[in-house]
Amino acid sequence: MITSHASAEDLVRGLSLLQKATLVSGASFWRTAAIEEADVEGAVLSDGPHGVRYQGADHDHLGLGGSEPATAFPTASATGSSWNPQLLERMGRALGDEARALGVDVLLGPGVNIKRSPLCGRNFEYFSEDPFLSGALGTAWVEGVQSRGVGASVKHFAANNQETDRMRVSAEVDERSLREIYLPAFERIVREARPATVMASYNRINGTFASENSWLLSELLRGDWDFDGYVVSDWGAVRNPAAALAAGLDLEMPGTGGSARAIVEAVESGDLREGTLDRAVVRILTVHERLRAAREEAASVDHDAHHELARQLAVESSVLLKNSGQLLPLDPDTGGAIAVIGEFARSPRYQGAGSSHIVPTRLDDALTAIRRATSRSVMFAPGYALADDDAHDPEALIGEAEVHAARADVVVLFLGLPARDESEGFDRTTLALPARQLELLGRVAAVNPRVVVVLNNGGVVDLRDVVDAAETVLEMWLPGQAGGSAAAELLFGFAEPSGRLAETIPLALADTPAFVNWPGSEGEVHYGERIYVGYRWYDKVSRDVAFPFGHGLGYTSFAYADLEVRVPDSRAAGATVEVTVKNTGSRAGSEVVQVYVGDPEATLDRPLRELKGFAKVRLEPGEEARVSIALDERAFAFWSAEGWVVEPGAFDIEVGASSRDIRAARRIRLDVPARKRELTADSTVAEWFADPVGKPIVARALSVMGDKDATSGGLGAADAMTMVASLPLVSLFAFGVSEPESVVQSLLEQVRAAPTDAPEEETA
Ligand code: BGC
Repeated sequence: MITSHASAEDLVRGLSLLQKATLVSGASFWRTAAIEEADVEGAVLSDGPHGVRYQGADHDHLGLGGSEPATAFPTASATGSSWNPQLLERMGRALGDEARALGVDVLLGPGVNIKRSPLCGRNFEYFSEDPFLSGALGTAWVEGVQSRGVGASVKHFAANNQETDRMRVSAEVDERSLREIYLPAFERIVREARPATVMASYNRINGTFASENSWLLSELLRGDWDFDGYVVSDWGAVRNPAAALAAGLDLEMPGTGGSARAIVEAVESGDLREGTLDRAVVRILTVHERLRAAREEAASVDHDAHHELARQLAVESSVLLKNSGQLLPLDPDTGGAIAVIGEFARSPRYQGAGSSHIVPTRLDDALTAIRRATSRSVMFAPGYALADDDAHDPEALIGEAEVHAARADVVVLFLGLPARDESEGFDRTTLALPARQLELLGRVAAVNPRVVVVLNNGGVVDLRDVVDAAETVLEMWLPGQAGGSAAAELLFGFAEPSGRLAETIPLALADTPAFVNWPGSEGEVHYGERIYVGYRWYDKVSRDVAFPFGHGLGYTSFAYADLEVRVPDSRAAGATVEVTVKNTGSRAGSEVVQVYVGDPEATLDRPLRELKGFAKVRLEPGEEARVSIALDERAFAFWSAEGWVVEPGAFDIEVGASSRDIRAARRIRLDVPARKRELTADSTVAEWFADPVGKPIVARALSVMGDKDATSGGLGAADAMTMVASLPLVSLFAFGVSEPESVVQSLLEQVRAAPTDAPEEETA
């Protein structure tokens, strides 16, 4: 039994080369190797983010085979919309308990890849288009799981934003976009929650497989972020086991049989240092031992309580997109008949396909739950079939629904994407809902305009027709095994939909940021939109959207007042935002206060606003609360060739109920030191004039060069400066002096020789 890192090292010293090589690739599909004679226990790794998929003797990573029953929580596109880290932490704890009870040591989640395009087939497994929100929720999830002595595996690291060609494609992405958009969720989770493992993704990043990428796995993850767990490959991601180990991967999953031999050969031939292998073994054994040591209590699971938690998560994750006629909430006791229409009301669509697919402990359907929740008369018509086959006549299904709708006081219509439309393994090609569902909606609304649409889909869908036809639209995503009862509670107002969009709903596919760069070709996908992902894009290009990031209604209303932004020390980047939020309606409800930061004076292009803080508050009617949200240095920073930079100047702090419903704003100034950019032989005229030391030196040199009118082509001095600002100084000199390079060199020498503290008037 290992008790510490040091003793893991001792233990490794006693193992043979082959034994060590055996420990760094799986013994089976879900297990790591054990070495009985050395007292090394194996560990079990299982999917996945929304429920424990423990397979026992079965094995497959595509969700095809069976698994032990476990609570099916809402998927991440739902829980991402909850904006509620405390609830995610509770979900993590529940998952941890279920994992322990099934003998699972490491749970393969959370998935924190950014939703680059709404077409990604796996978006239902990811939280958001925004890195801050993804990081906050992922951190809470990991803390919850790991508090039970079960490890998390943050995935898929990194830039795995599509399913098309996922095992080969190279994500061609610049470092700034990686650092600002695709990596921060991983970074925050690693720094704050210390996950046991990180899962290296299938794809390449700028040409190098993630599992063989030493920049990603060693420099960044361990060097910059101090990761102290082990890196496991996605299932089947390793091409070259020795190269992967050398780059910083520790465990290859699942076992391939041949890997141990290949590693032994690589060590024997001198291609792989034995120390590198030892390091991986130590990391794996240390983490497994750390997890076992954290298990204080015996495992116990309360499936009823977990079902109730799944229901609460489904409620908090539901986004009321539109409620124009105030159709919701419905009165449970008075009113005419309710026509429930849509096969999904009876046969719930509640989870996604692929490796996260699990067998639920039970399953609520909305139709039964609605009938239980109300004393009003409830009619049902399926309206559409789940499969297009000869057994169902689409016209007859719609006709029956029309008859019910015409007789009812109100229609509750369940629409969404069929399971075959979104899954791990392939991407969607359209945002459209099935044509038959849209036809059903149109015809039902024509006979009864009082239509409430309830949506079940993992990724966002085109809602233009839905919004036109229905007075009320409730997006419930893939709400897990208790989604049906959650729907009934929401419809009758026993609970309030308090989710907010974690992803913009665009008007059309052609409006989306990655549209012309998706899904790539000839083995590469270019992230040409750079940092402008999600609302960062729609805001930058002033594009209308169907529903903006952060949007969501409830059954009450809120007012914002007295915004105050305090900067404790303007020479350091940091601020505290305080605002009073009041429930001005007649029902209790939750508001998600969102804080966005903009950098209007940045010296490079930046998004107009970026989410940097949020808080979800629940208030009784008439109640108010002072909400306080802290902004740290990173809230103001961008990534540059010099690393994270905060520039001095103005910052806009906006507080709102969505990215396009800003309720109050303040401009603050930060007097942080300006970044020092070294002047070089290639610096432009503008860069010389922006440099406090260089400015007087270049000004003197230019005045010596003489007659300004002659070089300004008749323009005034200011205009002439604008004309030449972007010229390298050496190119400007080329028009007037011989040997311009040596002139610039001599000016650079003067800069280097100048005293470091330039006089006050010259720095202004
Ligand atoms: C998926 C992972 C999953 C693994 C094991 C892979 O296909 O990409 O998310 O954890 O299989 O099932």
